[in-house]
Amino acid sequence: MFSNEGQENSLYELVRHRRSIRRYTGERVPDDVVKEILKIALLAPSSWGRHPIEFVVLRDRATIEAVARCKRMGAGPLPTADAAIVVMADTADCELWIEDAAIASTYVLLAAEKFGVGACWIHMRNRQGQRKSADEEIRQILGVPDNFSVLNVVALGQKGETKSPRTEKDLVWQNVHYEKYGQK
Ligand SMILES: Cc1cc2nc3c(=O)[nH]c(=O)nc-3n(C[C@H](O)[C@H](O)[C@H](O)COP(=O)(O)O)c2cc1C
Repeated sequence: MFSNEGQENSLYELVRHRRSIRRYTGERVPDDVVKEILKIALLAPSSWGRHPIEFVVLRDRATIEAVARCKRMGAGPLPTADAAIVVMADTADCELWIEDAAIASTYVLLAAEKFGVGACWIHMRNRQGQRKSADEEIRQILGVPDNFSVLNVVALGQKGETKSPRTEKDLVWQNVHYEKYGQK
């Protein structure tokens, strides 16, 4: 498990260690760890503080595989994940649902890293399914009402690959401007 005890800037350490993990050992991620991850996701900031984001937690292999098939291309890591969290919102109820869902998903990714669990964002919004959109097909399988949209599915599993943490060299400082665009 990732430990940041005694680190000077533990949030920075956590963030630089978080990488997209797409291979899993097949070992179980305990339910209570998934619950701890959800506790963090449920505290994500949201527009107007309305917490419109809803999560469908999948632990059943057949369902995870069925959801993976809802994305025609690029659901790669999902079928072998031990758990998956489908991130969605009632779009009629929340103008900024994409932003809210993206923040909640980011919290899931960071929380997973905190607990040493591998995670990967599998995008679904505006992606093609087998016959309809990935979003529609997922909602059909999971019985999600029509007024909802799915942003993504976060695949979770015990890490089956090691990736180097980010370093200072990865910081794209040219993207930062001071006071005016272009001013360094
Ligand atoms: C909006 C968004 C969509 C993404 N969609 C996918 C995806 O569909 N499949 C996938 O394997 N990774 C996906 N990723 C993960 C990115 O590919 C990954 O974050 C990026 O390559 C940087 O690598 P890192 O996460 O290890 O730092 C997505 C990430 C974001 C933020």
